[in-house]
Amino acid sequence: MPASPKTAPNLNKLLQQKNIRALIFDLDGVVTQTAKLHAAAWKKMFDEFLQNGIENGPKSQPPFSIQTDYPRYLDGISRLDGIRNFLLARNLELPPGQPEDTFEKRSVWGLANYKNELYQQLLQTQGVAIYPDTITWIKQKRAENFRTAIISASKNCLQVLQAAQIENLFDVRIDGNISQERNLKSKPEPDIFLEAARELNISPTNCAVFEDARAGVQAGKAGNFGLVVGVNRKDASEAKALLESGGGLVITQFPGSQ
Ligand code: G6P
Ligand code: MG
Repeated sequence: MPASPKTAPNLNKLLQQKNIRALIFDLDGVVTQTAKLHAAAWKKMFDEFLQNGIENGPKSQPPFSIQTDYPRYLDGISRLDGIRNFLLARNLELPPGQPEDTFEKRSVWGLANYKNELYQQLLQTQGVAIYPDTITWIKQKRAENFRTAIISASKNCLQVLQAAQIENLFDVRIDGNISQERNLKSKPEPDIFLEAARELNISPTNCAVFEDARAGVQAGKAGNFGLVVGVNRKDASEAKALLESGGGLVITQFPGSQ
């Protein structure tokens, strides 16, 4: 989808008007094209589970939908919380299980481990693609002395940044591992963004948040950030969902790259 000329160029002006000094970026779907790989791994795992794995609960289930289930229940959410969200939505229950469980155990941990195996396979076979518009804009803003942070619910965040060779574009990183160590709540709670602002040593009101996930936009809104920007890499209906989740504006591309 082409960039909306109304929204993207406004961004640079808005940063100035709102006295923004730091930029906090979500990883998957904003900086790297890895949200698609997560969605594909989730679909493969859940479809296998829905076809063969259900012992208790409604047996006839529609397959996992990348268009509807992913943004509602999994996008931007930690691995285990995402699984719990999806199971609840489908009226299914599984025991939590143990961190070493395999898929065959039919536990939340078993499903999580299998999904991660599938995601790792996709990272190996497809590699990590960046969004060139985001990277160009981040470099431009860093040259203008904006501070930058990367946040992600993902425990694979550092691996993805290293694969794309972009970890040095961020002053601060708060990812899934750090969130676990510090007991930060999953989006839509604002914890991960607030922690990034704290480490940047800049008040949230002077930070802008960039998110492609509905839960992430809600988190930015809940944290009272100076600007919450929905980054829509999908279709127009997703732009509406991001605005309804609390996005101050929605862009389809970063400025300067049209
Ligand atoms: C991102 C993705 C989610 C994923 C989450 C955890 O936010 O949008 O789909 O579940 O990270 O990722 P992980 O790599 O730790 O399973
Ligand atoms: Mg994302």
